[in-house]
Amino acid sequence: MQRIQYHRYGGPDVMRLEPFELTTPAAGEVAVKVRFAAVNPIDWKLRSGQMKIVTGNAFPRAMGMDFAGTVIAVGEGVTRFAPGDPVFGLAPFKQTGALSEGVIAKASALARKPDEVSFEQAACLGTAGVTAWNGLVDKAGVTAGQHVFINGCAGAVGEAAVQIARMRGATVLGSCSARDIDRVRQLGVETVFDYRATSPADIAARFDIVYDTAASMSVAEGLGLLRKGGVFIDLNPSPGKFLAAAFNRRLKLVICTPRPDVLDALARAAVAANFRLPIGEIAPLGEAINLITALETGRKLGGKAVIRMD
Ligand SMILES: NC(=O)c1ccc[n+]([C@@H]2O[C@H](COP(=O)([O-])OP(=O)(O)OC[C@H]3O[C@@H](n4cnc5c(N)ncnc54)[C@H](OP(=O)(O)O)[C@@H]3O)[C@@H](O)[C@H]2O)c1
Repeated sequence: MQRIQYHRYGGPDVMRLEPFELTTPAAGEVAVKVRFAAVNPIDWKLRSGQMKIVTGNAFPRAMGMDFAGTVIAVGEGVTRFAPGDPVFGLAPFKQTGALSEGVIAKASALARKPDEVSFEQAACLGTAGVTAWNGLVDKAGVTAGQHVFINGCAGAVGEAAVQIARMRGATVLGSCSARDIDRVRQLGVETVFDYRATSPADIAARFDIVYDTAASMSVAEGLGLLRKGGVFIDLNPSPGKFLAAAFNRRLKLVICTPRPDVLDALARAAVAANFRLPIGEIAPLGEAINLITALETGRKLGGKAVIRMD
């Protein structure tokens, strides 16, 4: 099998497409033959070494979080999946490895792929969908009639958050680049601000939930947009923010935490056509390094970058 891996932390030049041996799944794990993987900003953040306190110093290290494929083998105690099952989900944060012909995942970070959802579409749902759900549903408990502001509503987490908020009956406002305004209006964003023309401080409305999916707002800006009782969701945590959140219940920090019930809910929503993420480009594994490099250095696709394994 081949995968994208690197032998030291660094920039795009450290990525290699190299052979590797897929290990046998341990208890609670599943080996998956990957058909499609989706690229996320976290892929190059981890590769740069920004989180080496978590990811450690053992090399080579694999890349990629999100994938869809078929089960090859299951470890001890795994009863939800069997060889041949179509699945989608997330690789473990520390080991990663979705940008690969095969990956070992925790069974708890996998869901069965519905027949109605393609492998390439399912590969896009994991990180963005779970992160959006963790923030809006788990942390903020979004309910019908609430007013929600999604900063960065045309990004992957942003689009996922818009769709989840709409599914739950919330009214959604948001910000994005001018070129994406029509697209997010079609998703149901009622009022859209061009973020280059309007800063959060210029917005007069106040919200029950503000979700900064672009990771561009300060905590003060987020809290400043809240109604009484509202919450600001921040997906760019730091030690200082964890400390601040311990003393301020209006600040909620999100770290993508997959669970079977969340992935199953996303799959059901995808079947009901309430939930999908646009695909900007599909490239074969042999071209993945070039595509990741382009994204990392500013190329915009208007949707997810997806890597095809066969
Ligand atoms: N905490 C976690 O567990 C977790 C999980 C997933 C993602 N994240 C983080 O969340 C962020 C978004 O991830 P993603 O996958 O959604 O990335 P993405 O698809 O690249 O989306 C980012 C979006 O933010 C927009 N944006 C940039 N600056 C903005 C600003 N000042 N105001 C409003 N929108 C702005 C971008 O628009 P343009 O491209 O048009 O500029 C883009 O549409 C990344 O930093 C990622 O690392 C964190």
